[in-house]
Amino acid sequence: MTFGKLVDGVFAVGTEDPKRRLFDALIPTPKGTTYNSYFVRGTKKCALIDTADPSTENEYLENLKELPKEPDYIIVNHAEQDHSGLLPKVLEKYPNARVVTNEKCAELLNELLFIPLSRIDTIENRRTLDLGGKTLEFLITPWVHWPETMQTWLVEDRILFSCDLFGAHVTGKAQAECEKELEIEAKRYYAEIMMPFRPLVRKHVETVSKLGIRIIAPSHGPVYAKGEGSCGPEWIIGKYRDWTSDDVANKAVIAYISMHGSTEKMAEYLQGALEKEGVETKLFNLENGDIGDLASECVDCATIVIGTPAVLTGPHPKAAYATMLLGALRPKAKFLSVICSYGWGQRVLAQMQPLFSHPGTELIDPVIVKGAPDKESFKELDFLAEKIALKHIHNKIM
Ligand code: FEO
Repeated sequence: MTFGKLVDGVFAVGTEDPKRRLFDALIPTPKGTTYNSYFVRGTKKCALIDTADPSTENEYLENLKELPKEPDYIIVNHAEQDHSGLLPKVLEKYPNARVVTNEKCAELLNELLFIPLSRIDTIENRRTLDLGGKTLEFLITPWVHWPETMQTWLVEDRILFSCDLFGAHVTGKAQAECEKELEIEAKRYYAEIMMPFRPLVRKHVETVSKLGIRIIAPSHGPVYAKGEGSCGPEWIIGKYRDWTSDDVANKAVIAYISMHGSTEKMAEYLQGALEKEGVETKLFNLENGDIGDLASECVDCATIVIGTPAVLTGPHPKAAYATMLLGALRPKAKFLSVICSYGWGQRVLAQMQPLFSHPGTELIDPVIVKGAPDKESFKELDFLAEKIALKHIHNKIM
């Protein structure tokens, strides 16, 4: 149970699932996650902000028993079911409560959860709802995950209920503490959830950064509150400014898989060659690696190299998967290349090219080697490292 007071009249009433290991049946969550929900009590009316994932129904309904009053409004910031999935149960429990959300979200709630439109009041951007001494202002911020996402600003207490924005898949921490672990998890979460929409996320971060926030209360992970020893809102806003900027680091990521060791030798050699050229290089083995760590490494790297053997004649399926996933996550890397070892024939590049959906990313000539890498192959890898380093220099990536 994660019931707790944020400030007078504002409570966290969400749930947590420390054992959840996969999100959207895709993204590993090694530290589990929370489904944050909040209750705001005004002198006239009360509102519940978001619900929780249906897998935590019992815990959530227990938490609701602690509420000092029944909610008059259920604010829905996001229609994805990890936040809206218990809405039908909540509406059953509070038959007089009205759902408040934007038009797009109302449409999705109706389509995904069969919430009758007659129970929903739709609002427009910057509209307010007076609860009596607590005023909720709605900020429609599409693509802080889905097209209907919005955030809710509690004017008097300066609390931003930020929906998926600024979240982290961690459990056991009500309030953010400035520590490396949280930075790692917040960055990983950003890579998986927010990175595909980087330009819009950047714009929304700038909008909310002007509000004068005292507390950021996201939908996943700890809240960011101003105070001694804690990570305040400016800490996470600063991180988001870095991650969403166009700046990349003088860094390469080599994501590889190897069947009989040849591609691995090439990847390791290229790592050494790049480092000699002054390019920080992370090696990532796709065989058993956590794809979330790979996504996180790609948040700010300038170059991505995919290493694959030929399976039959195409790329290894795990290399193809990583390429496709990175294409979907749209990291801001400026350069891309491929290294490959094959046995009897290959059409690796031809088959991988449709997966390179990185707009604005330049493909640097790949190194494709027949059999085990020899002296000549290592020379080619030296040349590739040199080319990558020069591209970084010419693009002022230092
Ligand atoms: Fe946490 Fe997009 O849902």
